Amino acid sequence: MTPGSGSRSIGVLISGRGSNLQSIIDAIAAGRLDATIAVVVSNRAEAQGLERARNAGIDAVHLSPRDHADRDAYDRALAELLLARGVALVCLAGFMRLVGRPLLDAFPDRILNIHPSLLPSFPGLDAQRQALEHGVRVTGATVHLVNAGLDDGPIVMQAAVPVLDEDTVERLTARILVEEHRLYPEAIGVMLDGGWSIAGRRIVRAVMS
Ligand code: GRF
Repeated sequence: MTPGSGSRSIGVLISGRGSNLQSIIDAIAAGRLDATIAVVVSNRAEAQGLERARNAGIDAVHLSPRDHADRDAYDRALAELLLARGVALVCLAGFMRLVGRPLLDAFPDRILNIHPSLLPSFPGLDAQRQALEHGVRVTGATVHLVNAGLDDGPIVMQAAVPVLDEDTVERLTARILVEEHRLYPEAIGVMLDGGWSIAGRRIVRAVMS
């Protein structure tokens, strides 16, 4: 039995601004996403996203890495907190930490991330700058399952964004963000609906008859 299975309860992990968190909150409020945010957790006290959660009446928790002996202890505490809230799916939204074994094992194939490039191109930090400097004509956003690698897990959904001649990192980032905000709630809905399996690196969705 997967954690919180059968429920449409999600936990969102953030580190900063929280605009993707806001897009999830808005999609739920608008009836575009059938889900409940059980808890928002930030590793940083000053994350603006904590404020967004509280404004929406969502439980918002600052879990400081400084209060835990090491990375594993922190990830164990995160897993315990999320399991205690009955979370079925964990959504990383600008969570600036690598997810370790204790959390991966507690939520197998149940952790999503959003990344601002068309993976596997440009993993890691500054994906928009990497794309611009490389000279690609198309980049975008990717929602993927999280594994032990960096931005490496099976891909759930992607959206393409053209790179324009006059683009700066800021302008490209802003256009990718518009796609992120559309894509993430949709991908969360697909994963919560179930009826998918993983074949190698591919997520295969059941064909409706
Ligand atoms: C987004 O670009 C997301 O793709 C990346 O970090 C950024 C977070 O932005 N993982 P926000 O905190 O959701 O506004």
